[in-house]
Amino acid sequence: MIKGPLVATTRDELAAALKGVRAAGGRVGFVPTMGALHAGHASLMAEARSRLAPGDALVVSIFVNPLQFGAGEDLDRYPRTFDADLELCAGQAVDVVLAPSVDEVYPGGEPEVTVEPGPLGTVLEGAVRPTHFRGVLTVVAKLFGLVQPDLAVFGQKDYQQLVLIRRMVADLCMGVEVVGGPTVREDDGLALSSRNEYLSADDRVAALTLSGALRAAVDAATEGGDRALAAARDVLDHAPGVDVDYLALTSPDLGPAPADGEARVLVAARIGSTRLIDNMPLHLGGS
Ligand code: PAF
Repeated sequence: MIKGPLVATTRDELAAALKGVRAAGGRVGFVPTMGALHAGHASLMAEARSRLAPGDALVVSIFVNPLQFGAGEDLDRYPRTFDADLELCAGQAVDVVLAPSVDEVYPGGEPEVTVEPGPLGTVLEGAVRPTHFRGVLTVVAKLFGLVQPDLAVFGQKDYQQLVLIRRMVADLCMGVEVVGGPTVREDDGLALSSRNEYLSADDRVAALTLSGALRAAVDAATEGGDRALAAARDVLDHAPGVDVDYLALTSPDLGPAPADGEARVLVAARIGSTRLIDNMPLHLGGS
């Protein structure tokens, strides 16, 4: 039988769980999650573990953060699968699962001091979900304060989140190494997401349009950015039941796309009542 992780629900329990590791000079690796864990999360845990040595500790947090959900979003129906999550963590040799209550994270209710994402928080996802990144950065800053990790791993699937967390850590001198883990996909290309479980069978077929459109952009990338975007747009335009929020081509740090060189293509769409996002790296032009 695999030994399960230690579960800490309070900051004191977490401090006690990590005391020995810290006293011995060990490092702490951290994977923040909202639970409903799947193979994508497992790969982030494996990435963190691969960067740690024996005697270091791997911490995973499971916390559905109310602050990052807007009014009318899916906070109440967000999947909560704690027992299965613990099993997945056990399989990844996670040492400590931090599973705090909302009161433990926000003891006085919604915090008065929060982390503002700045201009990058107002575009793409931020244009559709105006308070989202303030909620994400605030909770990540709080979780960093609680866990005090040396390194933290976030999925590239939430690409804008990853870029903003990197920027927060740099701008606020947080001293945490931020690592981006590659997106894990089903065999047919669908990016793994906790929200995939909302999809009906028909929605699931329509959802493949997102990765299909990104793949079309990647395939056309040597012909330049305009051609790459047109190829992706063509796939999206011919997909019934896919309501596109945005399709964008950017530089790797979400600035304007270069004419030639590394770039990122990102898409968000509503399929039925489910909103999905996806993105891929691509190399524009022939250089
Ligand atoms: O990516 C997520 O699951 C969440 O946005 C995060 C980083 C755990 C913050 O709640």
